[in-house]
Amino acid sequence: MDKILVIGAAGQIGSELTIALRNNYGGENVFATDIKQAPQDVVESGPFQILDVMDAKNLAHFVIRNKITQIYHLAAVLSGNAEKLPLQAWDINMKSLLNILNLGKENGIKRIFWPSSIAVFGPTTPRVSTPQLTVMEPTTVYGISKLAGERWCEYYWKKYGLDTRSIRYPGLISYKTEAGGGTTDYAVEIFYDAVKTKSYDCFLKDDARLPMMFMPDAIDSTIKLMDADASKLTIRSSYNLGGIDFDPKEIAAEIKKHIPEFKITYTPDFRQKIAESWPASIDDSVAKNDWGCKYEYDLAKMTEVMLREIGKKLGK
Ligand code: SER
Repeated sequence: MDKILVIGAAGQIGSELTIALRNNYGGENVFATDIKQAPQDVVESGPFQILDVMDAKNLAHFVIRNKITQIYHLAAVLSGNAEKLPLQAWDINMKSLLNILNLGKENGIKRIFWPSSIAVFGPTTPRVSTPQLTVMEPTTVYGISKLAGERWCEYYWKKYGLDTRSIRYPGLISYKTEAGGGTTDYAVEIFYDAVKTKSYDCFLKDDARLPMMFMPDAIDSTIKLMDADASKLTIRSSYNLGGIDFDPKEIAAEIKKHIPEFKITYTPDFRQKIAESWPASIDDSVAKNDWGCKYEYDLAKMTEVMLREIGKKLGK
């Protein structure tokens, strides 16, 4: 039986992925770690430990002691926050990945998952239906670290045969754990503010179209990629995933169908520039061909679930 380690289990992806993996592999076989306390269900459904991914020695002890065979390394500083502390963000994002890759190589880890992002693309990339292989000149620290990370993952695969797998996630939308510090996070905040105050002041312009995905589709895709037969995978840097794409005025219009009084205003900040440098939509045909990614949620279906669940959470 595989023993799985999730690093960043208190985060936006980790808090939901840990539960999904435990449902598949059994609670006791999925070890959750983070530098901060995880949500109640993560702590109660299997082992959880505070662990710093930057501490390579302790991490190695943990992996050996618990006979870990697969690692999901999800800890990272997101795009907006990284622009505020560029060198620290670079250090955290890169060093942690190199720690994991090296640990994987030294300890015969069977499979490693590491998330990349649409942030690997830049202003010189074709913006519409961005292909898997294209110009990549990211202009954010976060994007530079993700692009470098992709190259390292592929390097470890080619040079050492380490089975690394990765997805370029679009903006991820979820109601369980907030991400914090990302450019696409307006599309999460908008739901909370819609439920709380029936209004939202957006930090992007009304036509800032970006690729997005509802968390259940992201979790399904991640597990599908990790379960795929290695011989089917033609990409060892990171797979494009498309999901849905919309702009702030379209999501506002969708919310209005449920909350007619909802009002959106726009006060773009530094994140607008970041959004303009990223794709508006993604071509994910390679992922579809290689391992059959597919999605269940469109904007309407996602909006319905987000408003309902956040309403429940906030007692509205
Ligand atoms: N959602 C991330 C961000 O906005 C992109 O990967 O930073």
